[in-house]
Parts: sequence; structure tokens; C-alpha cells
Amino acid sequence: MTAVTPPQPHIQPPSVGAAALSSDLTVNNVEVVYHDIIQVLRGVSLTVRAGRVTSLLGTNGAGKTTTLRAISGLLKPENGKIREGTVSFEGHTLSSMVGSDIVKSGVVQVPEGRRVFKHLSVEENLRAGAILGRGNWRDDLERMYAYFPKLSTMKDKQAGYTSGGEQQMLAIGRALMAHPRVLLLDEPSLGIAPLLVQEIFENVRRINRETGLSVLVVEQNANVALRNSDYGYVMEGGRIVMEGDSAELASNPDVKEFYLGVTEHGNRKSFREVKSYKRRKRWM
Ligand SMILES: Nc1ncnc2c1ncn2[C@@H]1O[C@H](COP(=O)(O)OP(=O)(O)O)[C@@H](O)[C@H]1O
Ligand SMILES: [Mg+2]
Repeated sequence: MTAVTPPQPHIQPPSVGAAALSSDLTVNNVEVVYHDIIQVLRGVSLTVRAGRVTSLLGTNGAGKTTTLRAISGLLKPENGKIREGTVSFEGHTLSSMVGSDIVKSGVVQVPEGRRVFKHLSVEENLRAGAILGRGNWRDDLERMYAYFPKLSTMKDKQAGYTSGGEQQMLAIGRALMAHPRVLLLDEPSLGIAPLLVQEIFENVRRINRETGLSVLVVEQNANVALRNSDYGYVMEGGRIVMEGDSAELASNPDVKEFYLGVTEHGNRKSFREVKSYKRRKRWM
């Protein structure tokens, strides 16, 4: 190998490594309790890499929504709080900030159950997302209609009369109107027809590619989440029990058995049971 010194450019390119590092969102050893006594998160650490789509998987009650609330500052209305650990993004310690300041720092959550303003029209819902006054809201509206063409055909329709999938698109569009750097999605596939689920995930992927938006998506539907993300975490009982590149996770036998497989007796095993069962088999 020969070391060739390239000619020095007149303008130094930005230090990509450093910039990317500072735009990662990190959750560091977070413990969350509700009502001062119910401990739900037991030391969760994860990274939402800048410009990537990261998925957080797990069955009902694993602590996925609580993790999103810990990031977005939405624990307080639920009488929950971070007892240990930190959440940080671009030099801000989100875990010591209030929700509205977290939104201003660029981290926006689309809540579970896609809470749109049912009595407002589709367009009014989108405009309500432009609360921070960043950018030109008219241009932003056109951008949302380009991402979600279905919404452009129903601008004046009352949001409450649109389908579940359309409301999910609207909730995502409304969040994007605030120009987030990190978008948190809570079970976008819940109760939505498979075709629309695929369309929603493809749109999110496209926005991620075109704008560099970082995404953390919580899902029970492991298949669709792993197909449409770069990296994934598996959560159980308030802990992260596995992580890896999405493609690797999707082909991992434990993940397959847990998410797709049912035991001979028809029971679904817990992720830990699957792992210890494998371990036992190996040693016996
Ligand atoms: N507001 C709350 N008050 C008390 N317990 C809660 C609250 N929200 C969630 N929990 C409990 O925390 C655990 C994890 O819930 P959640 O984070 O919603 O899990 P997931 O989103 O993975 O289904 C559950 O046992 C749930 O009952
Ligand atoms: Mg949830």
C-alpha cells in the first residue's frame, strides 16, 4: 500500500465524524418510575444514530412507550419520572428539560393511537404542527402533501372522519411540520391495514433518506419494523435484551422464534425463555 497525500482543498470539509456523533440521541442507563413506586424501565441504554432509522421492538408492556416518553418529556402528565440516567441530544440534557423545550431542541414524538384533532380539518391539523414557526408553513404544507398524497385529496375533510391509516399519516405530517431532527413514532402500524402500513413506513424511509431525519420507531410488528430500519433493539421487562443491525436481527434464530414461532404446546415464549432454552440445549 502506498500512502498518497491528497492535495489540500482550499476549504476544509466539515468533520463528518464529529458532526454525526453530536447529532446522535443517546439514552443512558435510564430508570423510570410511575407514581413514585412502580418501576418500569430498569436501566435502558440505546442510541438513535443521526440520519438512521432505529427500531425498538418488544411485546405489550415491555416499556417501549415509557422509553419514548422518557425521551420526549411526556412522562410528567402520566405521573412518571426518570429516577436515574440521562437522555442527551446535541449537547442538551433532554432528561432535565420540559417537553416544550425538548420539541424546540428538535425531538418530536407522534403519540400512540395517533391523536389528531378530530374536529379540525386535515389541513388545520397540519398547520397546528407548525407551532414553532420554523420555515414557511405554506411550503411545508406542500411538502407534506407531496410525501402523503392521500392527505392532499382530503385537505378540508374533518380529521375524525378519515381512516386509521390516514390519521397516522396526518399525525406524522403534523409532527414533521415542526421541523424535527429526531422523530419518535409509537406503533404506527397498530390497527392499520397492511398495505397502508407499508406505505407509511416507505414514506418515513423516504423522508429519512431525503432530509437526514433520524427516526426511532417503536413496534410490536417486528417484521415490518426490521424491514424498514437500519438498527434495532429488543426490549423486555424494562430492559434491552438484544440489539443489532436490523438485517441481522431479522435473521437471528432467537428473534425469529420469539416473534414468529409458537412452541409445540402453542404458547409463545418470552424472549429470555427462548434464550435460556437455547443455552440449556447447548449445554445438555
Ligand atoms: N401512566 C402509567 N402509570 C402506571 N403504570 C404505567 C403507566 N404507563 C405504563 N405503565 C406500566 O408500565 C409498563 C410498560 O408500559 P408501556 O411503556 O406502555 O409498554 P409498551 O409500550 O411496551 O407496551 C406496563 O406494565 C404498564 O402497565
Ligand atoms: Mg406502547
